[in-house]
Amino acid sequence: MDLFEKIVALAKRRGFVYPTSEIYGGISNSYDYGPAGTELLRNIKNIWWKEFINDRDDMVGLDTQIILRPETWVASGHVGGFSDPMVEDLKNHKRYRADHLIEKIITTGDKSVEEMSVDEMNDFIKANKIKSPDGNSLSEIKSFNLLFETSIGAVSGEKSTVYLRGETAQGIFTNFKQVLDSSRVKLPFGIGNIGKSFRNEITTGQFIFRTLEFEQAETEYFFDPENSKWEEIFDGFKDSMFKFVTETLGVSKENLKWRRHSDKERSFYSKDTYDLDYKFPFGWKELWGIAYRTDYDLKQQMDHSGKSLEYVDPISGRKFIPHVIEPAVGINRIFLMLLADAYSEDPSDDSGQVRIVLKLNPKIAPYKVAVFPLLANKPELLEKAQSVYKTLKKNMVVTWDARGNIGKRYFAQDEIGTPWCVTIDFQTLEDNTVTIRDRDSGKQERMLVDKLPQYFQNELI
Ligand code: GAP
Repeated sequence: MDLFEKIVALAKRRGFVYPTSEIYGGISNSYDYGPAGTELLRNIKNIWWKEFINDRDDMVGLDTQIILRPETWVASGHVGGFSDPMVEDLKNHKRYRADHLIEKIITTGDKSVEEMSVDEMNDFIKANKIKSPDGNSLSEIKSFNLLFETSIGAVSGEKSTVYLRGETAQGIFTNFKQVLDSSRVKLPFGIGNIGKSFRNEITTGQFIFRTLEFEQAETEYFFDPENSKWEEIFDGFKDSMFKFVTETLGVSKENLKWRRHSDKERSFYSKDTYDLDYKFPFGWKELWGIAYRTDYDLKQQMDHSGKSLEYVDPISGRKFIPHVIEPAVGINRIFLMLLADAYSEDPSDDSGQVRIVLKLNPKIAPYKVAVFPLLANKPELLEKAQSVYKTLKKNMVVTWDARGNIGKRYFAQDEIGTPWCVTIDFQTLEDNTVTIRDRDSGKQERMLVDKLPQYFQNELI
């Protein structure tokens, strides 16, 4: 098994990620999150929200709907142009992203696929005789819109078409005026939004990296282009993004790099765009993007709605459309990065068994502590262990395990990434001490039960 297969297998085995609707055969590019995965997902969102919204004085949050008025997506350009280049296998009619097929065979001398026009991609496919993964000829490239369409309306025949949002960002732009009018913000300030977005992705096999449904954490940072230097705001966010990934989440720096979009790749309205790429097990790929989008989005929403989204400077009275810098990340991509970065295999011990450890930063680990009674069939140990478990649960997410032997329980908690295991044994009944076993070093120490809550609180600061 390669690293990617090992991570996918561990994610299923330990309750992080399951294929959606598996009992019916699943849905391509769709996954559910199990008990451990749900905790991890929540921790990522909470820690992002704390660092990018609550800890800052210049940010506020929003929680906007998945279904917006369809005009929003016409204004944003998604209805007209939110598409991927798609080719079809002419024999079995399976569809593929043309750029992804090209990416697989591109060599260093070639132009990068991000810079190719549709005609250039068509020529490249022909010149290199690229076939479908099943070995059949491919159609010419067609544009494939990624927005999911649905309808609202109770009476049949009177339904109107709406879209599931393709990004959380537009909910921020359409509420810009409401935030101005209902809170005390003044430029420069940012608005953050976390929530589900939907894209009809056809490329399969990338696990939770590219899915139909995913959660985005997006920020729109509004400023006056005449009084703020966009380069300073842009660089400030790049630093915050990098710090969040390396210091807060504890991801290795050598697995991260910035990639600047070339003029050809960048959207026409953007003045500068960078991707923070992570070295995923299947290659360097975008984790988090940051773009200087000028006043494009507010202007578009203003033109299409006919409502002013201008800002009035409180001192000079000058009226203008603010400019915006947008850092946008997928929570599920952060999740996959964390699994990949934290996965480690310690050499086999005397039993010949390799120790798989998910070395997650304790702050984001799904469970902080696992509590075990040494023996599950001794009522006095069970009772004491339950009381320790309930005390610790008051302050943090704690898990319980009384199955099998202690070795197997450690093995399971290491794979889940639980930083500490606490065992209640016969000595506990005599002197009120327990053993704490550290996930990364495997070392054990004894500690008084009364000291445990403070000890873990200190470790988690
Ligand atoms: N508002 C800008 C925007 O949506 P994007 O690069 O299309 O930009 C932002 O998306 C982030 O959302 C990406 O960097 C990635 O982390 C995440 N993302 C995009 N499509 C995704 C998908 N199909 N599955 C999982 N995450 C995705």
